[in-house]
Amino acid sequence: MNSNELIASVLNDWWYYSVELAPGIVTKGMDTPQTPMLPRMMVRNCNLQDMDCLDIGSMEGLVPTAMVRKGAKSVLATDAIPHCQKKMDVVRKIYDVNFDFREIGLLYDLSFKLKDKGGFDFINLSGVLYHVFSPMHVLAGIRPLLKKNGLMVISTNVINKDGYTLEYNAEGGLQKENNTFWYHSVPMLEQLIRFFKMVPIDFLFCPHTPVNPYNYVPGLSSGYMSVVCRAVEDADIADGDAWAAAARMSSWEFLSLCNGPMLNSQPRSSITYDGSLNEVPTSLSGIRLMDSINDPKRIVASVNDPINSQMLRLADMS
Ligand SMILES: C[S@@+](CC[C@H](N)C(=O)[O-])C[C@H]1O[C@@H](n2cnc3c(N)ncnc32)[C@H](O)[C@@H]1O
Repeated sequence: MNSNELIASVLNDWWYYSVELAPGIVTKGMDTPQTPMLPRMMVRNCNLQDMDCLDIGSMEGLVPTAMVRKGAKSVLATDAIPHCQKKMDVVRKIYDVNFDFREIGLLYDLSFKLKDKGGFDFINLSGVLYHVFSPMHVLAGIRPLLKKNGLMVISTNVINKDGYTLEYNAEGGLQKENNTFWYHSVPMLEQLIRFFKMVPIDFLFCPHTPVNPYNYVPGLSSGYMSVVCRAVEDADIADGDAWAAAARMSSWEFLSLCNGPMLNSQPRSSITYDGSLNEVPTSLSGIRLMDSINDPKRIVASVNDPINSQMLRLADMS
């Protein structure tokens, strides 16, 4: 196929991302160029040069493309089913990027499904935790794949309130999308991150507003949060949470679902982070999400430059 035929073969398909396939020819994605894509902004802060990277739920491959362009050594794109395969193949060709794709089914037990892949320096887990029945089961499967000291970007819908709760999408009250089950309260998301031996080191928050009636619920302070997390080891966890430490040591769920032999034998990653917002010196205990959730510097309601949106252009290197 020549490039015109290649473009014509997918241009009028349904697209999740807006992708420039030739100068001025852009697919019609779901979001506007003003809608922030927080995970993309956070991945950009991670130094992926020569790193092994994993992306969960890749759709047409915007994030894997950015990872390759940022100099990753290897990139594995994944999805439950290969529903975007044809479009992803075209993106790969047009952007001249080389990454693998793996069909992984439901997002559970990935340390077993991907055990042949060994460890990753960087994992992007964005836009999926609200889609699954059990977010803890998903994290238990993914965390052992991360190298010691590795980075994971976790992005999901949250409710800006105290307390350790999951809000159920009762009668589609949070949004009508029929694969959406849970929004985490912000402290709950942080507890999940810490429970699975990571600490938050940076984040951005995009509040749901009436601009997008699809996910705006009057009276509810909800939004989309993207958190950069650093893997820490048992010896480094000094958060005073004796209950969590004991649960990690002896709960049947942790021992069975969070592959200890893989997690504990991961090599150490040298991946570094350049986040400009991370003004709090990163200590082993990381940052507290609720302490700065209302900080204007962390709130991104809309963006001017499409490079921070779900639009991928030929010139974009991240
Ligand atoms: C909202 S999109 C997010 C895409 C991308 N990760 C991002 O942040 O832009 C959700 C992704 O997860 C996949 N997905 C949705 N529900 C899923 C489920 N229950 N199990 C496995 N994958 C799911 C979709 O196929 C898609 O790739």
